[in-house]
Amino acid sequence: MKPLLPPKRRSRRSALRETFVIVGAGQAGTQAAQTLREHGFEGRVLLLGDEAQAPYQRPPLSKAFLANGMSVDRLYLRPQSFYEANDIHLQMHSPVDRIERNAGRVVLSDGTRIGYDRLLLATGSRPRVLDIAGARGTGVHYLRTLQDSLSLRSKLAPGQRVAVVGGGYIGLEVAATAAIAGAIVTVLEAEDRIMSRVTSAVVSDFFTAVHHRHGVAIECNARVVGFHGGERLEAIVCDQRTLKADIAVVGIGAQPSIELASAAGLPCDNGIAVDEYCRTADPNIFAAGDCSNHYNALLKRRIRLESVQNAVDQATVAALNMLGDECRYVEVPWFWSNQYEHKIQTAGSFSGFDHIEERGNRDDGRFALLYRKQGALLAVDAVNMPGEYMSVRKQLKEPHLTRPDGIASHASAIQKQAA
Ligand code: APR
Repeated sequence: MKPLLPPKRRSRRSALRETFVIVGAGQAGTQAAQTLREHGFEGRVLLLGDEAQAPYQRPPLSKAFLANGMSVDRLYLRPQSFYEANDIHLQMHSPVDRIERNAGRVVLSDGTRIGYDRLLLATGSRPRVLDIAGARGTGVHYLRTLQDSLSLRSKLAPGQRVAVVGGGYIGLEVAATAAIAGAIVTVLEAEDRIMSRVTSAVVSDFFTAVHHRHGVAIECNARVVGFHGGERLEAIVCDQRTLKADIAVVGIGAQPSIELASAAGLPCDNGIAVDEYCRTADPNIFAAGDCSNHYNALLKRRIRLESVQNAVDQATVAALNMLGDECRYVEVPWFWSNQYEHKIQTAGSFSGFDHIEERGNRDDGRFALLYRKQGALLAVDAVNMPGEYMSVRKQLKEPHLTRPDGIASHASAIQKQAA
């Protein structure tokens, strides 16, 4: 298959003194800034973030960092010297208030105006908030930022009663971390099984059993209707019963941060709408990462992805296209989660499968599920089988390998056209 990215080279833009502004100093924004420099851009690169800290990794916030086993220093995506050495002007504490497209500038909340030649929106996503009384009160935690994780970490202790709302990756990772810390944990999941958005019942059942073995209670079909307490949380109210709790953690999904784009008149639909080249409807504005919704030629549909892989790969493509290249973003999405000693790795999209091929052995806790539709491989879930995962993920990237009969799929035809 044709490599997605052209070889590194001096950009034809290198002589121009242009300003490229990146809004959002997370994984995608940082990657885009780096790619611009790696490919010879010699103009100004401004990376604007609204948080206090330099860009950091988020995955450990619900795992190793929350468990107190990791220092803040180890979270940073790049050392401070990286920004200096690459002349990337990193400006934290700088929320952007609006985009003035006609003037080609962004306006910060303190009124500062910054002109751009190209703009990348890498604004990310934020936790969906429970829409019930008390859902923003003391003792009710959400997990997205370093501060969120520090605040929760300061409270996790043996004997604390922790109610986790939402049995997705975030909720279950927090549940595992809290259980290991000696807390008494209950997961309240609205659907009839955990992780239903991301995997099949086989994997849900496996992880339900794992959590049970660690003493975590999981209640499905739960409907949380309120929180009791004043200064301290006392209980979480469900429609069937009231559960005493000292801490609640809500992990019920994320919503894309599209407000800037939307107010600037850029089309948005569950994310900032971009094409395969990460371009918005405005030729000078690009978007990448959690905030964007792109057409994926491998999946043959529009999709918004929340993953490190998507942030890094899409931002790389966006940066190259900001330099005038014509790179398509055609990647198999992949995710992972760690819960206790188990690692689940997922690639592709399992929806619509009509057959599961199982490899390994569930009883040994090492297995992989290959999801197929009419013989063609759609996705893989691998639990504690990294080798199997890597080889199947490779097949997903090379669609002509994914059918047992070896017939090239439509997706591979699309890729060849582009080659
Ligand atoms: N009460 C209980 N559970 C709920 C409710 C509710 N009111 N609303 C939703 N849920 C459940 C969903 O059914 C789902 O199982 O919460 C779970 C949320 O799981 P995800 O959608 O995977 O979201 P989350 O775990 O918050 O992760 C958000 O951050 O790290 C990334 O990869 C992660 O993309 C994911 C994102």
